[in-house]
Amino acid sequence: MESGVKFKVFSVPVTADHEILEECVGIINSKFQREHFHLVISNDEITVFLNILDLEKLRAIASDLETEYSMEKGNALSIMVERIASIGSYGIKAGKRSFVQYNLERKVRDRKKKIQDRGSYYYARNSKFAMSSNPFPEDLLDTITVADSEEAMRNIPDNSVDLVFTSPPYNFGLDYGEHMDGIDWNRYFEKLFSVLGECIRVTKYGGRVVINVQPLYSDFIPIHHMISEFFMKNQMIWRNEIIWEKNNYNAKYTAWGSWKSPSNPYLKYTWEFVEVFSKGDLKHPGDRNYADISDKEFKEWVNARWSISPERNMKEYDHPAMFPEKLAERVLKLFSFQNDIILDPFNGVGTTTKVAKKLKRHFVGFDVSEKYVETARKRLSEVDSHNL
Ligand SMILES: C[S@@+](CC[C@H](N)C(=O)[O-])C[C@H]1O[C@@H](n2cnc3c(N)ncnc32)[C@H](O)[C@@H]1O
Repeated sequence: MESGVKFKVFSVPVTADHEILEECVGIINSKFQREHFHLVISNDEITVFLNILDLEKLRAIASDLETEYSMEKGNALSIMVERIASIGSYGIKAGKRSFVQYNLERKVRDRKKKIQDRGSYYYARNSKFAMSSNPFPEDLLDTITVADSEEAMRNIPDNSVDLVFTSPPYNFGLDYGEHMDGIDWNRYFEKLFSVLGECIRVTKYGGRVVINVQPLYSDFIPIHHMISEFFMKNQMIWRNEIIWEKNNYNAKYTAWGSWKSPSNPYLKYTWEFVEVFSKGDLKHPGDRNYADISDKEFKEWVNARWSISPERNMKEYDHPAMFPEKLAERVLKLFSFQNDIILDPFNGVGTTTKVAKKLKRHFVGFDVSEKYVETARKRLSEVDSHNL
């Protein structure tokens, strides 16, 4: 009996290779602290005592042992590792998957029942969104159009788009050409929320709206909060917030505000946000055969801090505020299926539309700038085939 430590205990049957497995159990036990994880082998089973575990370390050891002893597929070791992997109760420590300490008392008892009783996303609970979808107009499908999206989106039926992914103009005073970036904040937000309202309308029940946004630090305007509030007021479910860690700081400010004084320090940020909203239901219906995210990608990307370098080719594309293709790839693979319809109402030079085409999704893009639309269309031709 292990004193003081409460393990999760289960057994895996041993039907062959008993002597080899005895050796393996000894080797595995020597690699872990006994109060964290250990195995006991008897004539017909291996009993697992699980408390805290670095699963990847165990996987690597088990895989080496299986190779060394030429063990058959479906041996007791591999079954044990998969049984452990299937246990839902784990956390991430120092980037590694570790099991929640089973000897720690659970802080919340009857967690599931309590969640059921109080209900999730109370602000969106009684939404009146229609559940049925409408067909998307053929003539707009897989096109990029020069247009003010506030007007152009009126041509898109309600509930006809699976995913909106966009990054709005920030009103920073950036030189966008046709679009005036630097107008009065009230006018800016009126226009922005009008377009975002259209995004909600055209999204299907169970569809998602994903917004990449950088808070307007220099003007002290938390646009990511304001956008989230707008969506929640319109009964969209705030489902995720991803930190896009760009690992760079390139603002023009060289000062730190009030140098070495708390009177008015200026903080620096190396990340942007990606806010994810669901319409009506968290689940997006789709055929699993059209999911194209690999298990490695899924495991990595559900960790909501995404380290991705900023777009390096903004000069080449002559656009001041692009997001990188890698960001669009993650969003599209994690939140949409192949063949889904993807809309970007602020399409710029077409990162979303290009990636959508590459990943075999349908796409629709709008931008007020003729020059950007031309570049966006050119980028589409960089994608070899479009096997929709
Ligand atoms: C942050 S950029 C998007 C960049 C894009 N994600 C990319 O990677 O190329 C915002 C874009 O919105 C466009 N824009 C601004 N107001 C617009 C409007 N009312 N309708 C359509 N596009 C607009 C600007 O021309 C600009 O290209």
